[in-house]
Amino acid sequence: MTDSVTITDNRTGESIEIPIDNGGVDARQWSKLLPGTWFFDPSFSTTAAAESAITELDGENGILRYRGYPIEDLAENSTYLEVAYLLIHGELPTQTQFDEWVHEITYHTFIHENVRKRFMEGFHHDAHPMGILVSTLAALSTFYPDAKNIFDPDSRHKQIIRLIAKMPTIAAGAHRHSVGMPFVYPDNSLDFCSNFLSMMWKVAEPHYQPDPVLVRALEVLFILHADHEQNCSTTAMRVVGSAHADPYSAAAAATSALYGPRHGGANEAVIRMLGAIGSLDNVDDYIKRVKAGEVRLQGFGHRVYKNYDPRATIIKRTAYEVFEVTGHNDLLDIALKLEEVALADDYFVSRKLYPNVDFYSGLIYQAMGFSTEMFPVLFAIPRTAGWLAHWLEMLDQDSRIARPRQLYTGPEVRAYAPIDARS
Ligand code: CMC
Repeated sequence: MTDSVTITDNRTGESIEIPIDNGGVDARQWSKLLPGTWFFDPSFSTTAAAESAITELDGENGILRYRGYPIEDLAENSTYLEVAYLLIHGELPTQTQFDEWVHEITYHTFIHENVRKRFMEGFHHDAHPMGILVSTLAALSTFYPDAKNIFDPDSRHKQIIRLIAKMPTIAAGAHRHSVGMPFVYPDNSLDFCSNFLSMMWKVAEPHYQPDPVLVRALEVLFILHADHEQNCSTTAMRVVGSAHADPYSAAAAATSALYGPRHGGANEAVIRMLGAIGSLDNVDDYIKRVKAGEVRLQGFGHRVYKNYDPRATIIKRTAYEVFEVTGHNDLLDIALKLEEVALADDYFVSRKLYPNVDFYSGLIYQAMGFSTEMFPVLFAIPRTAGWLAHWLEMLDQDSRIARPRQLYTGPEVRAYAPIDARS
């Protein structure tokens, strides 16, 4: 048996044999045999768009690793900033490297006063914080014109630090704006997650000190969300980055992708769904409606995981720890019952639909006091590290501009008719 695939063009009888390498075949070889014949794969479900050494995801076996480290070990022992370093640099930092990394990020958390005062405050009072985040990220490219020097290692490093550092500041600022509260400046004496919580919730106290259980829960959630290989937003980052746009513009595109309910907006949909179900008595009815195709079971199913999403297991545990501090959330009981009923039902089992990362994350965020509009923002903060790791990798791979082809299905050529001659 040879590890290869042979494709024959039956019109000409010509064949080409292509090796199967690392689970893939190089489709570029095929175009030599079949110029002008395209592989039709509209949602890229059978396409490997990149070679990547960042995140390993084995959906059949429920495995997720960053740079070889199991997600369970990282969630147990690490912090978001350490994981961000790992994703971007490929190795865990030494103590000296870590101290320097944390110092640089801590000292880049402030945003330009014009961004805050003139730009962010210009949004309508009920603007969705994700819309504010997308626009503010794009606007940052105008404040850092040096970001265009994407092949200058110093400039790249500076933009990476700025983006990771400023995301929580913009995120919290978007929330404060939407509730009419004054902006809270970053507190450099706090760690990354505590500082974010301080910017979110500080009122009149001289020094905001969040509950350590909630800080740890946020660290875990940020670690779990930091990367997920070639997902929709990361693909957007790589595609826009492949045009050599600056990283702020590319991150704004990635954040826009994350805004969608099929991606970063799913945990918001879970909370709405649990609220609409309202009580344990309505769970069976809801499952019936899902099976009839009337509604989706939000937070269930995944393009890649065909087994329990390992992130969901960790998040479920974290949810219990958070509820110890914040008090019981009745929606958790509905979620648990939904999970129990679904996992015993052939509709879900035969389609390999299991809880994904979003099934429990919204419950934690809600218990911590975040509005549902902030949920995708809370996803975007840590995913920035993953986006940037992929952006760097893509640039270093000497990639060509992303430019798929299409199968044209429109009209044949026709003559232009003046407006008064059209029926
Ligand atoms: N509820 C009910 N049925 C479902 C669900 C669901 N949540 N997800 C998939 N199915 C069914 C679907 O109807 C189809 O059935 P059939 O074969 O009879 O037509 C089958 O399962 C395959 O579904 P699909 O839509 O082809 O799967 P996909 O890979 O295109 O979609 C998904 C993946 C995540 C968009 C989808 O499962 C979904 O909409 N889930 C709910 C939203 C959600 O939780 N999204 C968060 C994803 S995790 C966060 C992230 O990584 O971004």
